[in-house]
Formats: sequence, structure tokens, C-alpha cells
Amino acid sequence: TGNTTLDVGFVNTASCQSAITYIDGDAGILRYRGYPIDQLAKSSSFLEVSYLLIYGELPTTAELEEFTSRIHRHTMLHEDLKDLLAAFPRDAHPMSVLSAAVSALGTFYQDSLSITDKDQVELSTMRLLAKLPTIAAYAHKKSQGQPTLYPDNRLDLVSNFLRMTFGVPAEDFEVDPIVAKALDQLFILHADHEQNCSTSTVRLVGSGHAHLFASISAGIHALSGPLHGGANSAVLEMLGHIQAGDDDVDTFMNKVKNKEDGVKLMGFGHRVYKNYDPRAAIVKDTAHEVLQKLGVNDPQLEIAMRLEEIALKDDYFVERKLYPNVDFYTGLIYKAMGFPTEMFTVLFAIGRLPGWIAQWREMMEDPATKIGRPRQLYIGEAERQFVGIDKR
Ligand code: CMC
Repeated sequence: TGNTTLDVGFVNTASCQSAITYIDGDAGILRYRGYPIDQLAKSSSFLEVSYLLIYGELPTTAELEEFTSRIHRHTMLHEDLKDLLAAFPRDAHPMSVLSAAVSALGTFYQDSLSITDKDQVELSTMRLLAKLPTIAAYAHKKSQGQPTLYPDNRLDLVSNFLRMTFGVPAEDFEVDPIVAKALDQLFILHADHEQNCSTSTVRLVGSGHAHLFASISAGIHALSGPLHGGANSAVLEMLGHIQAGDDDVDTFMNKVKNKEDGVKLMGFGHRVYKNYDPRAAIVKDTAHEVLQKLGVNDPQLEIAMRLEEIALKDDYFVERKLYPNVDFYTGLIYKAMGFPTEMFTVLFAIGRLPGWIAQWREMMEDPATKIGRPRQLYIGEAERQFVGIDKR
């Protein structure tokens, strides 16, 4: 294979050029289109950030209004798509339901499958941004055995999603402004992260000229794994395990350090951040603020803080430069908001969607794009001669 070099996990290999997100892992810097993440998290909104990621600039008031109203036009799901959702078993994992439903959008919206027609790409972009929260809310309703609610486009995207998730028919639903603001901010923090596992998947699938729905559906599956977006649920399972007394904090940490049964401190470590994850710093503050404002006293927050405190001083973690990542404290916030653990990674997917779309579109518009096709170093048998089955 000539001069092919081995780079397991693509630790040193750049797969593309991109103008969307900048990360400096040593300095703990994250910027979308040049804007520091803390400024966006503090002062922007999820829809504004979505616009920024996809079109490259922050919107003017008129642009944001138009963008918002275009999205509103597409929040409903085709009624027949509900039959598909109804067919899943009630205990289906909502990430599987989410990915299957996004895949199915490609069958319902065949008028926006082109990858070259700009209007069609725009239309599928709007459809995805509008419908993913609706699908996510329906996946939750399904697991609860509750009826679904139609979107109410008088509400903003996040409030609409909260109402469809937690509201019930024939009852007013009051959106808690603390919850809506915090969720909007969390979506901003998740909105893009350059060439992570799910984004690379979206690009790789798209590089074979698969349409946007197919590429995003694949990205949702990639996100579901516990080393990636699934870590936010895994953190809560870990805290629950410790809280239930299966292991105390010290015993658990010893297991992690001894790599017993492959146990890891979930929500810790990152491929790129080797100093701190700037998103985690913001999320930690939000966790304290939201739990306090909602009057939630969760003993799991104490356990999380204790684990973090031990890890930050312990040689094992210090030597390996392991710090809390974005997933360490998010689960505690989602739990305080009332989401069940299975929904946590779905929330990550809603947040990451604009990033996936922006990256897919950037790739499709880049004349340098080629089909993604890594090489390998072959380590199997050299040539041998076929032996008939009676002689083996
Ligand atoms: N707990 C214990 N040990 C760890 C952890 C952890 N969370 N993370 C890494 N290590 C150890 C790892 O065992 C290895 O040790 P050694 O050098 O003795 O073999 C060393 O640290 C380097 O780790 P690595 O696995 O080579 O690093 P990576 O860049 O391939 O993996 C990671 C990055 C995020 C997958 C990993 O840190 C991990 O599994 N963390 C836990 C899961 C998690 O929180 N994922 C969320 C990532 S951030 C947002 C997102 O994508 O969702």
C-alpha cells in the first residue's frame, strides 16, 4: 500500500478544510465562525447560532425573522409518519426512533433529496431543523404511552419542544422560562464541534452523494454511542450506580484507575481538549444555577462534584490530561428539567443538528471534496491456494 500511514482513530489526520468551528484543545478555546462559545452561550440564541453555523454570519433582525418563520412552516410531521412511530415497541430507545424517523423523512419528502439543487437543500435543511424537535417529543410521548401534541408555532422552537414533550391535550402548558433559557443555551453549546465522530459520519455518508436525510440519520446513530453523545446518559447511570451504594466513590475511582471491567469515569476525557473543555465550565455553572432555581436538591450533584474533585487531583487523571467534558454535568440538568435518562442523547442530537447540516453543506459546496475512502494496512494471510471442502 505504498506510503500509506496508519492513524488509528484519525488522531493526526485532517479529513477536510473547514471554516465553521475552531478548537484549540491545549488552550481550551472553542469558536463558531470566529465567535467565542462563551459569548454565544451568554448572549445569542439557538436559532441565531444555527443560522450562523449554516450561513456563516449572524443574522440581522429581518433575516432571523424570515429564518424562524420558514422553520415554523415545517414543524408538523406528515400524518403517515406517525404510523411508523406508532409501530415501534413502547420501550424502543428514543435515539433509534429518532434516527429511523429521520431516515424515513427521505421517503416522505422526495422533493428535497437533491444534493446539488440549492432550493432543495434549503428545503431539507428547514424540514430537518423544524421536524427533529417534533420527532424527539413524539419519541418521548411514545415511551410514556401518552398522546402526541401538534406543534404550536406561536411558541419559539425550544418552548414548542418543551410543550410537545411535557404537555398533555386539553390542558394549558406553562413553559418555565428558566428551563427554556437553559435548554436553549445547552443547544448552543452542543451545536457544532468540528470533525467529531458523528459529524465525520455525516460527511463520510454525504461524500458518497447520499442525501441530507440519510447523512443526518447516520450521524444520529454515530452520536448514540457511550463514548460520544451517549456519554450524557452513561454519566447518570454511573452516578445512580454510586448513589445506590453498589460502589462508594473511592471504590469506583479505584476501579476506573485499575481499568477493572473497562470501567471509565464517564463524562471525562476528550480527544482534543487536554486542558479543559470550555463547554463543561459553562455547563457546570448552569447545573448549579438551574438546580437551585428549580429548587431541586439532587444528591447526585454532590457525587458528581466529589468525583470531579478527586479526579482533578489524582495522578492517573492528571498524567493523562483528563478533565470533565460537556457531558459530565448536562445529565443532571436534563434530569432536573424532567427528562428521562434515555432522552439525554436525543437532546444532544437536537443541539448538534445545525452543525451537522452546516458541515454537510460546506462539504457539498467545496470543489475539493472527494468520496471519503480511508486506506488500510493489510495484516492478513499472503496468497494461498483454494482447497475444496472435502479436503479441509
Ligand atoms: N476514564 C478513565 N480513563 C480514561 C478516560 C476516562 N473517562 N478517558 C480516557 N482514559 C484513559 C485511557 O484509558 C487511556 O489510558 P492509557 O494511556 O493508560 O491507555 C488514556 O486515558 C487516553 O485515552 P484514550 O482513550 O486514548 O483517548 P481518546 O482520545 O481515544 O478518547 C474519549 C477520548 C472521550 C473517547 C475518552 O476520553 C472516553 O472514553 N471518555 C469517556 C466517555 C465520554 O465522556 N465521552 C464524551 C466525549 S465529549 C463529548 C461527546 O463527544 O459526546
